[in-house]
Amino acid sequence: MIRQAMSGGSSIRGLVLIGYRGTGKSTVGRILAEGLGRPFLDCDREIESRSGRSIRSIFNESGEGAFRDWEERTLDALTTESPGAILATGGGAVLREANRRRLRGFGFVAWLTADPAELARRLEADRLGLAGRPALTTAGTLDEIAQVLADRSPLYAELANAVIPTDGKDPSQVAVAILGCWTP
Ligand code: S3P
Repeated sequence: MIRQAMSGGSSIRGLVLIGYRGTGKSTVGRILAEGLGRPFLDCDREIESRSGRSIRSIFNESGEGAFRDWEERTLDALTTESPGAILATGGGAVLREANRRRLRGFGFVAWLTADPAELARRLEADRLGLAGRPALTTAGTLDEIAQVLADRSPLYAELANAVIPTDGKDPSQVAVAILGCWTP
């Protein structure tokens, strides 16, 4: 069903996945890239390979500002080097205006959403979520989600071409929902 839905033509417009941590951007991006035969890029993994450091260590040792600089440089490079790719961004990539401009120019932007309680459950169930993702505030998970989402939702909304709710859907169903809004 996915392959059927993905049998579109090719174009140099890319697809950008934005949204909070735990919304499935990387998993869904990989499914779409494989189905469409396009490159898949995960901004966080690219930052780690280009910097030779983990996201957590950049945050902890150099601070969030240094991470955001890496993020901006990496998004600049990826969107220049790989037109037409499927690009999964980190949850905070929308914070800088320069990034939003860059992502808008790269292609169709899909905002993956989920209920905050569901996000908390997914992040807690995900060992990487606990061990690998740096905390963004000093609040607990659900409070942190509510606080960060309140700040970021207007930015996600401003950038998004489509809003894709993920509650109750598996990643393949989310991929199909994106293809219902975007013609590759
Ligand atoms: C962040 C989200 C993370 C990663 C970094 C900061 C954020 O990406 O970029 O830990 O500010 O929301 P994911 O959304 O892929 O977890």
